[in-house]
Amino acid sequence: MSPWKGKCVLVTGGGSGLGRAMAQRFAAEGAAAVVLGRREEPLRETVRLIEEAGGRAHAVSCDVRAPEQVESAIAYAVEREGRLDVLVNNAAGNFICPSERLSPNGFKAVVDIVLSGGFNCARFAFEHLQRTGGSILNIVATYAWLAEPGVVHSAAAKAGLLAMTRTLAAEWGPFGIRVNAIAPGPVHTEGTDKNLWLAPELESTVVGSVPLGRMGRPRDVADAALWLSGAEASWVTGTCLTVDGGQWLSAGVYNFRAAYEKFAGGDADGEAKRDA
Ligand code: COA
Repeated sequence: MSPWKGKCVLVTGGGSGLGRAMAQRFAAEGAAAVVLGRREEPLRETVRLIEEAGGRAHAVSCDVRAPEQVESAIAYAVEREGRLDVLVNNAAGNFICPSERLSPNGFKAVVDIVLSGGFNCARFAFEHLQRTGGSILNIVATYAWLAEPGVVHSAAAKAGLLAMTRTLAAEWGPFGIRVNAIAPGPVHTEGTDKNLWLAPELESTVVGSVPLGRMGRPRDVADAALWLSGAEASWVTGTCLTVDGGQWLSAGVYNFRAAYEKFAGGDADGEAKRDA
């Protein structure tokens, strides 16, 4: 019997992209997937897809920035399934914007979703995960420790989430809770296609920086999430697994300046003004 049968996995941002793929993957192994997100319609679609494939799932509308909504969403999941085994902090917001043009509110919106949202979920999942000896998986990004012009809001938030991964791993290890992270590389999803892969040239530049020579698939990340959250990784905590075809190794090859100028509206004049 699958070790996931009878377990409950909660995925934030589970209505699309990697969140949906991870929820589907856990559900395919027999876990009940509870998907959280702001918009009900995509969440329902995730549930429909999982149920159609013979799995078990629930949708809960919730803005992870609102602690009281998070508390009741987690209580709902535990009420329905009787337990919580895995929390996947996947909810995020991102767009490309040169830092000198990013509004303070734009910075705050992304940090609030990724970092405060991640904490809110971990905070209210704690007592339930302690009971099951469960784990938390935080979805970060390699630019949490590298750099990627145009996404300072997301980079700062993901770096914070990575720090939170390590801190909580140390703090909650004695309670039997593991806390890890995955840093996915460039992956095609509905959201990234709309927000990030804005031109074919950008994609070919990016693929050129991936030693394994292709964009990632949501399934690549979902497989890693399953392993890192499961019993086979029971002595792994506080780590970040990079799932990116080796892209981060070639960070120096990626032409940041060209990408910035071409796709994020940056220009050489701006640079000249700063230098003056
Ligand atoms: N470029 C620059 N600024 C932007 C922006 C963009 N593309 N999109 C939003 N902002 C700014 C807004 O102008 C606003 O700032 P202001 O009040 O100073 O004008 C601020 O961000 C908040 O925007 P708002 O739409 O009110 O916030 P929200 O909480 O409804 O949305 C976002 C949060 C901005 C992260 C939104 O993009 C989102 O919900 N994304 C979720 C999906 C997603 O991004 N997935 C990632 C796929 S890679």
